Amino acid sequence: MKRTKILELLKSDSPSDAILIKGWVRTRRDSKGFSFIEVNDGSCRANVQVIADQSLNNYADILKLSTGSAVAATGRLVASQGSGQAWEIQAGDVEIISIAPDSYPLQKKRHTDEFLRSVAHLRPRTNKYGAAFRIRSELSYAIHRFFRERAFTYVHTPIITASDCEGAGEMFRVTTLDQDNIPKAGGSVDYSLDFFGKQANLTVSGQLEAELFALALGDVYTFGPTFRAENSNTRRHAAEFWMVEPEMAFCDLEGDMALGEEMVKYLVAYVMDECRDDLDLFARFVDKRLMATLENIVSSDFIRLSYREAVDILSTVKDRFDYDVAFGKDLQSEHEHYLTEQHFKKPVIVYDYPATIKPFYMRVNPDGQTVAAMDVLVPSIGEIIGGSQREERLDILEARMDESGLLKKNYWWYLDSRRFASVPHSGFGLGFERLIMLITGISNIRDVIPFPRTPSNIEF
Ligand code: 4AD
Ligand code: MG
Repeated sequence: MKRTKILELLKSDSPSDAILIKGWVRTRRDSKGFSFIEVNDGSCRANVQVIADQSLNNYADILKLSTGSAVAATGRLVASQGSGQAWEIQAGDVEIISIAPDSYPLQKKRHTDEFLRSVAHLRPRTNKYGAAFRIRSELSYAIHRFFRERAFTYVHTPIITASDCEGAGEMFRVTTLDQDNIPKAGGSVDYSLDFFGKQANLTVSGQLEAELFALALGDVYTFGPTFRAENSNTRRHAAEFWMVEPEMAFCDLEGDMALGEEMVKYLVAYVMDECRDDLDLFARFVDKRLMATLENIVSSDFIRLSYREAVDILSTVKDRFDYDVAFGKDLQSEHEHYLTEQHFKKPVIVYDYPATIKPFYMRVNPDGQTVAAMDVLVPSIGEIIGGSQREERLDILEARMDESGLLKKNYWWYLDSRRFASVPHSGFGLGFERLIMLITGISNIRDVIPFPRTPSNIEF
């Protein structure tokens, strides 16, 4: 007999004689010759109640079923007598697949997020983390759907590269050199003897390669893991995180901001429509204001504000901040939070940042001081998207690379795209984990990624 997933079973519109479900016991209670077993199979938040009566020949063993034990139950799907759910299973057979011992770390009570991080291999078995990772999966699908509906082509950009897209140097090195006996040439490491014959690292962004494809296929996106060796222990930075990076040919900063806004709204609305039950868990137990926050995002026109205007607003309340506010200084998360949570109370897109604080590839504005950059800031997260119009003029791009200390010869292929029929183009990166944090109200990035990598943390 084929196993039915609980998600499907709950959609039934009539009783059924023979149903097989397989899953794990959440709770069990016994009463007057019956054992009521709440089983969850991970397909959705809801459990199904399996009713075993004492006539079953393994009834004595059924009474030993503990939280976390695995069972296969066959029986009749009938309308539920009790309230709470529509259907339950009157078991004709309950096969015990395995019994969770007393030492099973997940008990019926609520566990703290800190504790669950220490058992990240087991935490998807809890209601909360099951829901979070189902939403993560649904959102991945929604991202592909969003782009497909707009005729974007999906490009797989490399994970191992020899370039530094952000020019920030926060990269993990990839090497096969013997670390106990590193070959040297003239005092420094001889990378010519390394696997690729030069220095290699894990990518910090697929943007540069995505640009090359946009200049061939028009509108493209990449969606994959990226890596940053930022030694910052904050609740919104991970060393390995996923980024969605669209790149559009014949598109300026306006078009870039419009796509960013449209995409955030689309993805939030998608989860509100398609993941109602899982989302409800977060709205009830994690963040009571979650639904109001999400509705506000979907229904607001995002504020568009130049960096200069942002600095002016922040300067009027600068006493509230730990970090200085002045033209040429990067906005800190406290400033982002102020703008989007206190001042405007909705998402804000800040654009035209000083060139000095942004990477080499951003298009220099006519004022010569600022670049056509944009960051989308949302309440409770701060920066969720960072993007820009790209510098399509070869001479200016080369000058910016020189200023940033990047070796042009290493980027000959990128510069070729400007040499040969360059066109205006724009794109951005959306932090996938930050999006999940926004949508679930989960406040720590380590709790939205299955196996988080942060400084000093690589277990599992
Ligand atoms: O602003 P960032 O650094 O932009 C880029 O990497 C561009 N190359 C993207 C592009 O234009 N194609 O990063 C983009 C987003 C941030 O807004 C943030 O949401 C997320 O990636 N992000 C991180 N998320 C988790 N942990 C980290 N350490 C992150 N660093 C950036
Ligand atoms: Mg950024």
